[in-house]
Amino acid sequence: MSQGKNSSQAILMVTIVVAIVLTILIWQLASIGKGSTAATAGGDDADTRIQPVAKVELVKAAAKSDGKPRDGAAVYNAVCMACHATGAAGAPKAGDKAAWAPRIALGMSALIESAGKGKGAMPPKGGAADLSDTELKAAVEHLVGLSK
Ligand code: HEC
Repeated sequence: MSQGKNSSQAILMVTIVVAIVLTILIWQLASIGKGSTAATAGGDDADTRIQPVAKVELVKAAAKSDGKPRDGAAVYNAVCMACHATGAAGAPKAGDKAAWAPRIALGMSALIESAGKGKGAMPPKGGAADLSDTELKAAVEHLVGLSK
């Protein structure tokens, strides 16, 4: 009697093991399938390559810091440099005294205001909507300091 009970337990065990193995196999096949579709859809590379530099940089800059206000240099490096280091989008280049002199003549508060609201091709806060007023002011001061 106990012999028959043992063999039906053995059959149950085998069935469970086979079921587990099959599940793993099917799961792996399914993920291989997904991988190959992603590889064939790899054609959006071109879209990434033709994005303007500024857009790529802005996405990176959107990463929030640990909540502490960043200093002017840090904000400048993360957000403003994308345009103001290279003159991208027609931005006045950092350190270009001739380009900055007439802007500096407007006064710091006017510059901070236009940097906050955006001006011409410059989006509000250079596109980093998460900048606090303190961070924006520090960044403008840093940028102006480089260009005096
Ligand atoms: C997407 C490119 C871009 C980014 C990023 C950017 N700027 Fe600008 N910025 C410009 C352009 C273009 C102008 C010139 C606007 C005009 O005069 O038409 C400008 C002008 C300015 C001016 C002069 C405003 C005035 O009234 O003449 C200040 C100040 C300034 N930016 C500060 C900053 C600061 C600070 C940051 C970072 C928080 C920043 N910008 C990020 C493109 C950018």
